[in-house]
Amino acid sequence: MEKEVFQQEMRRKTQEIDALLTTCLPKEEGYQKTVLQAMNYSVLAGGKRLRPMLMLEVYRMFGGQGGLVEPFMAAIEMIHTYSLVHDDLPAMDDDEYRRGRKTTHVVYGEAFAILAGDGLLNYAFETALRAFELPQAGEEGAWRRVARALSVLAQKAGVYGMIGGQTADIEAEGGKDLTKQRLLFIHEKKTAALIQASMMVGALLAGADEQEVAQIEKCAYNIGIAFQIQDDILDVVGTKEELGKPIGSDEKNHKQTYVTLNGLERSRQEVARLSEEAVAILDGLSERKGAEDAAFLRQLVLQLIDRRS
Ligand code: IPE
Ligand code: IPE
Ligand code: MG
Ligand code: MG
Ligand code: MG
Repeated sequence: MEKEVFQQEMRRKTQEIDALLTTCLPKEEGYQKTVLQAMNYSVLAGGKRLRPMLMLEVYRMFGGQGGLVEPFMAAIEMIHTYSLVHDDLPAMDDDEYRRGRKTTHVVYGEAFAILAGDGLLNYAFETALRAFELPQAGEEGAWRRVARALSVLAQKAGVYGMIGGQTADIEAEGGKDLTKQRLLFIHEKKTAALIQASMMVGALLAGADEQEVAQIEKCAYNIGIAFQIQDDILDVVGTKEELGKPIGSDEKNHKQTYVTLNGLERSRQEVARLSEEAVAILDGLSERKGAEDAAFLRQLVLQLIDRRS
């Protein structure tokens, strides 16, 4: 796929996801209006929408059709956004910009940023559960697929997933003896877990079998680790304008990262190696399935190697 065609497609798909999110977000009304405003503020600030995009592309790759995936696409972006709102809190990374705007706690205060994060996490499941009410849920086996998808989503977001990774990340601050193994645990859990959830949910809802879902989990592991290494690289060499968030956050918080352990050059090589391995898994899967054209998904993964934001 030509670069320009790809970028145009990407913009179109991002806009579609933005529109979907707008329809899924709660109305800002009632005595709890402030928390609802803070929730919507953080989600509608933008962002690459990578996780819902990956989910939809994998769903299609396995032949998924119709809107069964949509409540889950919104849910994963809500969970991801809540993780960012809490990640930026003074008690965590203490950052003041996100997605090109003041962070939620700067605008609404800490109490409402905590509550907005809680609200988004819960609302994500309220939203995903609506999949059971769609006409498509009446099809044979659909309830089981939705239930499996919910289970994966819950697990990958929780203490054995993203929350577990954030815990280890905070505990590693300032430590000098961070091993490669421990750093990989942090990257796997805090970042790869939600990317795994995105891609596995897409596969499960489309009816992929256990073996295929396991391959997707491995593929998403690679993408997730590469994504976090690149995030650590950009924290050093990126710009606030391109990223929409401050650079130097890791240094400020005395974080050991892939870059501090291995240097920029080896980190870049690792991002490329992991991404190419992920694409090889995708190619293997789509060949075996005679699956839908996965050209966009393939390029989406490859362009993450030298992403600037
Ligand atoms: C930022 O995620 C947090 C990490 C896991 C590195 P993204 O880089 O996907 O952030 P948005 O959604 O585009 O703002
Ligand atoms: C955050 O890692 C991962 C999660 C929010 C789960 P970082 O702390 O490096 O993410 P940024 O750089 O603030 O986006
Ligand atoms: Mg952090
Ligand atoms: Mg952070
Ligand atoms: Mg970072």
